[in-house]
Amino acid sequence: MQEISSYAIEIKQNREVKIVTKRLMMGNWKMNGQDGRAAELLAEYSQADYDQQKVEAVLLVPYVYLAQAQSVLRGSAWGWGAQNCNEQLSGAQTGEISVGMLKDFDCQYVLVGHSERRQYFSENNSLLAAKYQLLLAQGLTPVLCVGESLLQRQSGCQEDVVAEQLHEVLKQISSELLPDNFIVAYEPVWAIGTGQTANVDQIGQMHALIREILSAYCTRQGQEIRLLYGGSVNRANAQDILAVENVDGSLIGGASLDSGQMIEIVNL
Ligand code: PGA
Repeated sequence: MQEISSYAIEIKQNREVKIVTKRLMMGNWKMNGQDGRAAELLAEYSQADYDQQKVEAVLLVPYVYLAQAQSVLRGSAWGWGAQNCNEQLSGAQTGEISVGMLKDFDCQYVLVGHSERRQYFSENNSLLAAKYQLLLAQGLTPVLCVGESLLQRQSGCQEDVVAEQLHEVLKQISSELLPDNFIVAYEPVWAIGTGQTANVDQIGQMHALIREILSAYCTRQGQEIRLLYGGSVNRANAQDILAVENVDGSLIGGASLDSGQMIEIVNL
């Protein structure tokens, strides 16, 4: 694991502690929702209530459904957000979506560095740090995704990989932005969409490490920073995963396309 900079420790000393008590459950629709499915799902979710004292549930929908999400989910128990954004505020970036546009649709949460973005769109740590910083500066809450590949897990370097992914982004974030809204999702690449979940020991170990690294960058300690687990979470395994120490919620892909299943998980 890399050394944590004294800069980060300074930041820690200057921050206030704030307690997070709510479990955060996020549905990541990825590139799904066509042929009217988005409208159906949004209607189903908007009807479903859950204990908002204990849980916060959010749907991360494709950009093109944000307007629908905003109009259907407003006033419901469900929040909405985006799966990505551009790292620049505006300008000549054909085909891209800015943070300001996400704000126009009242998005609060935005994924940063999902492994599919790292893998298929070559997003590297410095680009992700720029996105992270911009989102914080604009008052949105970035959810930084980290996780090792199967090969990295098999060769035993998963902790180094995840620690580096965190350090590389966090060390580039200016201290005044180091967040009250700090969310990290641990998603082992080999568990995403494969039906193969990390076991509770693997999840517990990695979340403890992430917690330790994060607490060096901001004063929020232990339970105060929300750490999500993602990777083939479903109704059969969610309860065990959510019971693991340092797991404060989940990032759910496939199962969030089945509103009945997602609602069941949110209500656990
Ligand atoms: P999955 O996806 O639940 O389908 O494995 C999780 C994710 O990629 O966020």
